[in-house]
Amino acid sequence: MSSLPRPAIPPLAGLASYAEAARPGLSVDQTVARMRHYNYVQRRLSELAAAFMNPTPEWEVKTALSLHMWLDVEHCHALRERVAELRRPPLYLDNVPDARLATLMDEMLRAADTLELLTGVYGVIRPALLSAYENHLAETNPIFDYPTCRLLRIAVQDQEQMIEWGKHAIAALTADDAARDRAQTWADHLEAYLRHAGGITGQEPIPTVVPPAPRATEPFVPNFEPQRDQPLSGRFNFTQRYHNIYNDPAVDLDERILALMYKRLHEIDVPEMMSSILLETHDKPWEYYRDISRQLWDECRHALMGEIWFVSHGIDPHAYPNHVGWSLWMNLDLTALERHTVLYRIEQGLMDGSRGKRYEWQMAEQAGDPLALIIQDYDWADEVLHARIGRRWLIPESGDSRTVMERAAELGKRGSPTIIGCAKLTPQIDWWPQFVRTTLGKESSAQPMAANHTNSPSSG
Ligand SMILES: [Fe+2]
Ligand SMILES: [Fe+2]
Repeated sequence: MSSLPRPAIPPLAGLASYAEAARPGLSVDQTVARMRHYNYVQRRLSELAAAFMNPTPEWEVKTALSLHMWLDVEHCHALRERVAELRRPPLYLDNVPDARLATLMDEMLRAADTLELLTGVYGVIRPALLSAYENHLAETNPIFDYPTCRLLRIAVQDQEQMIEWGKHAIAALTADDAARDRAQTWADHLEAYLRHAGGITGQEPIPTVVPPAPRATEPFVPNFEPQRDQPLSGRFNFTQRYHNIYNDPAVDLDERILALMYKRLHEIDVPEMMSSILLETHDKPWEYYRDISRQLWDECRHALMGEIWFVSHGIDPHAYPNHVGWSLWMNLDLTALERHTVLYRIEQGLMDGSRGKRYEWQMAEQAGDPLALIIQDYDWADEVLHARIGRRWLIPESGDSRTVMERAAELGKRGSPTIIGCAKLTPQIDWWPQFVRTTLGKESSAQPMAANHTNSPSSG
């Protein structure tokens, strides 16, 4: 029986030619073995971002770390789901797949500063990961293992974007020979460990030469004291009135919006604080770390919203104090569970229509500021999600919502010995009136700061 003539519509859903699709490619076991390595490296990269969130002073690096941490976690999530479809339980992914790969990531964690951090992550580890993904895509069968190919293509796209950012950031930090030499020395150090691990997948030939002496000779202790690229007078001047000002109907609307947008900018302290929760909370289900990483990136986006509004209004977002009081207090004076409890109370409070996110959105609408309005629109949507994340993880652990709220209120009253100490290091000056004069070209309509004003370190 002769078949009917067929129109020349591309076969195989356009994914490959018959010749390409007939190459057997990688087996299920080979695929899962590689995915264990990918997952491990990306999980460690996400933890690395959390570990460097506080000691890294540069604003732009903090914000990129927040995004990249979340992207790594999302890639891990996709890998976990796919591995479960490949006859393996995802819990299998929580084990270290290769001790030599662990040694490489332990060395990476010992980067001494931003230059070494960026050189290692964006100049060594991510490029190696990208090339492992590209090799995998070239080797595997595009149809038999389509679901893995799709997740790897998304990962490739994200890795390329991260590496591109990293390349420019490294260039900005290596303007002189001394910095270039230091970056090269550290890249050589890590590359020796990467080769010793047989590359990301462990399948490349391992040289007989032993890597240089390790830096990681003691257990890693993260530093949670938040650094900023600001002088001490900015970081430790805890005088803040923006919260009272945007909530005060007697203040001019343009000044209230300025205070509200300053509040958004100030939210960089939430990623600083949430990264310490991530690193100090152990043995939770995977979904917990995924939720917290997502929220961390959202809070960073809120800070970026403030930054964008400031820059679009010709205001340098970094020229005024942006203190670290809240993250300093949370990270150094409270436990991880206590920090999360305080965060829970803040986020549930934002759901209050009379003073919360709806109120902030209405304020922007009333002011006729389209940029502030859309900022508040998305900020509000994010906070609804965060309130849900809080309920999901804290209620089963700590009891009913009222108990958590009361516990958080008690913690708020406790005061912070660290803040009291740091406040003595620089004059506590009310900078708001001068800020309004410079940015709005008029006198502040807010009440002058009361002599007995106490600095509440609350944020969120
Ligand atoms: Fe927020
Ligand atoms: Fe939030």
